[in-house]
This record gives sequence, structure tokens and C-alpha cells, in this order.
Amino acid sequence: MQAVRNLFRAPWSSDVKLSDKTAVITGANTGIGKETAIDLSKRGARVILACRDMEKAQAAVKEIAESSGNDDVICMKLDLSDSKSIREFAEAVNKNEPKLNLLINNAGVMVCPYGKTADGFEMQIGVNHMGHFLLTYLLMDLIKRSAPARIVTVSSMAHSWGSINLEDINSEKCYNKNKAYAQSKLANVLFTRSLAKRLEGTGVTAYSLHPGVVQTDLWRHLSGPQQFFMKMARPFTKDSIQGAQTTIYCAVEPSLEKESGGYYSDCAPANCSVAGKNDKLAEKLWQLSCQMLSITWE
Ligand SMILES: NC(=O)c1ccc[n+]([C@@H]2O[C@H](COP(=O)([O-])OP(=O)(O)OC[C@H]3O[C@@H](n4cnc5c(N)ncnc54)[C@H](OP(=O)(O)O)[C@@H]3O)[C@@H](O)[C@H]2O)c1
Repeated sequence: MQAVRNLFRAPWSSDVKLSDKTAVITGANTGIGKETAIDLSKRGARVILACRDMEKAQAAVKEIAESSGNDDVICMKLDLSDSKSIREFAEAVNKNEPKLNLLINNAGVMVCPYGKTADGFEMQIGVNHMGHFLLTYLLMDLIKRSAPARIVTVSSMAHSWGSINLEDINSEKCYNKNKAYAQSKLANVLFTRSLAKRLEGTGVTAYSLHPGVVQTDLWRHLSGPQQFFMKMARPFTKDSIQGAQTTIYCAVEPSLEKESGGYYSDCAPANCSVAGKNDKLAEKLWQLSCQMLSITWE
């Protein structure tokens, strides 16, 4: 089974060390985020797990410290569906952390039933895009002071099926859970593109990526038959360790130092959709996000 999986894997590896570096990883108590945390810890980084469920987060801290041999791992409360929680998290990081070299915007929800965040945003665009947009904004000064630094946002190939509904980004008129997920993942790609432009010359670079089709809890909202199909497709999918590799590549690969704003898959540059390269759309999304969050970010 593993041999079949390996046929589809990129053999990237790197011995880059991250001593004296600090990383924040959202949604790091499970799945791709947890495996990313284990890897960055093994490289010597101080790792902050930014999680909404502190019980799960504490258990992950223990597991990560044990498997990496690095006990410089902590967890902090972050609920990306609530701007108050995001502001409290960022305030604590800005106050207590002298540097932040890696921000990994990893947390995500997929095809959930219609719901709204505390700020009234549709849940998928709210958590996957708006939450990370605000988080990045609030940590920006610290990240810039810590340059060289990287901001890695976990998107998905599902972004290719998406469009940004600027007139109804919260799907209030019509909700299609697949379209809403694809919209949020396209927003991740466009955000990274716009962010990179704004960060030119600062020593901070930005990347978005597709991790692969990975066996994680993300599929919790799929229907019974869909879950069954995903189980049957297991030999052609990645486990969480494999699923974390492109995130880790974007976070540490030295050759990416001079690149910014791009999209990656299987530990290599990849083509995003035409919409994902639309700078006008990216700018409109940026302005709309600022307006919805009541922030000014030129
Ligand atoms: N798995 C795949 O096939 C696949 C494919 C393409 C892209 N991705 C992307 O990969 C990323 C990681 O997903 P995964 O597969 O590792 O899924 P996962 O195992 O479900 O992990 C998602 C993480 O996000 C956290 N999260 C959800 N809502 C949150 C909120 N409001 N505030 C803070 N954290 C929140 C979850 O916390 P709880 O544990 O408390 O729920 C969990 O820690 C996501 O952005 C996803 O879109 C995954």
C-alpha cells in the first residue's frame, strides 16, 4: 500500500535547521498542521500551536514535544471564527514573542452546513480566508521585524473550481457548500498573491499550496457515501506526514527565498487557476476583506 502511495510522492527532503526561529501554526492539533509542527520542532524551532480547542491542543503539545525531542512547543487559544479571539491571540503573541519567522495559515473547514462566524461571515470564507487575513494583518509588524520570514497559507486544488462572489461573498442568497469551500481556497491563493506584492523588499515572502488529497479529519462533513469513497481511494491519497511536506517545503526550502506569491504542490511550483492569477480580482478581494473586517491595510 505504501509503495503505491510512494509512486505519487515527491522525494523532497531538507536538513535546514530552524534554531532561533519561531513558528505559529494554526489548526495544529491534528492532521497536516500537527505533522508540520512536529517537523518544524525537529528542526529546532519554537512552535506555537494556535488552536480553538485547548484540550486537544494540550494533547498535541505533549505528542509533538515527545516525538520531536524539542520541548519548546506551546499552545495558545485561537478561534478563527471570531475576530475577538483572533485579536486576543495576536495581542498575546505581539506582547510575549520577540520574533515570528514563520506564520503557517493552515487551519480550515470544508463543506460544512451553512453557518456564520461571530462576525457574521459564512463559516468557510470566514475561517479559511477572513480569519487568516486578519491574523496575518495583526502579526505583520512582528513578522517584518523578524525578517527573513515566511507566510505560508494552505489552500487546495479545489481553488480551481472556485470563483469569488464579490456581490455575495457570505453566500446569503444561495449556499452551495462545495462552491463556498472552493471560494475560500481561491481566496487563499489570491491573498498570497496580493500579500507578496505588498511585502516586496521587506524580506518577508508568501506562498500558497495544495497539500494533496490527505486522509485527515477535514472530511468530517462529507456524506456517508462520500466518506466511503474516500476510504476506498486511500491507496491514492496521502497520509498526514506526506500531506505536510509541501507546507514544510514552502516554510524552509532555501531556493524559495527569492520567490514570493506563488502556488505550490508536491513540493514544487505548480500552476494555479486563471482566476488565481487575476490581480484585479485579488485587489478587489483585498479591499472587500479590509472593509468587512473594518481595517486599513494598504
Ligand atoms: N485533507 C485534505 O485532503 C486537504 C486537501 C486540500 C487542502 N487541505 C487544507 O489543509 C488544511 C489543513 O487541513 P487538514 O486536512 O489537516 O484538516 P483537519 O485535520 O480537519 O485539521 C484542520 C484544523 O483546523 C482547525 N480549525 C477548524 N476551524 C477552526 C477555527 N474556527 N479556529 C481555529 N482552528 C480551526 C481544526 O481544529 P479542530 O481539531 O478543533 O476541529 C484542525 O486543527 C486546511 O486548510 C485544508 O483546507 C486539506
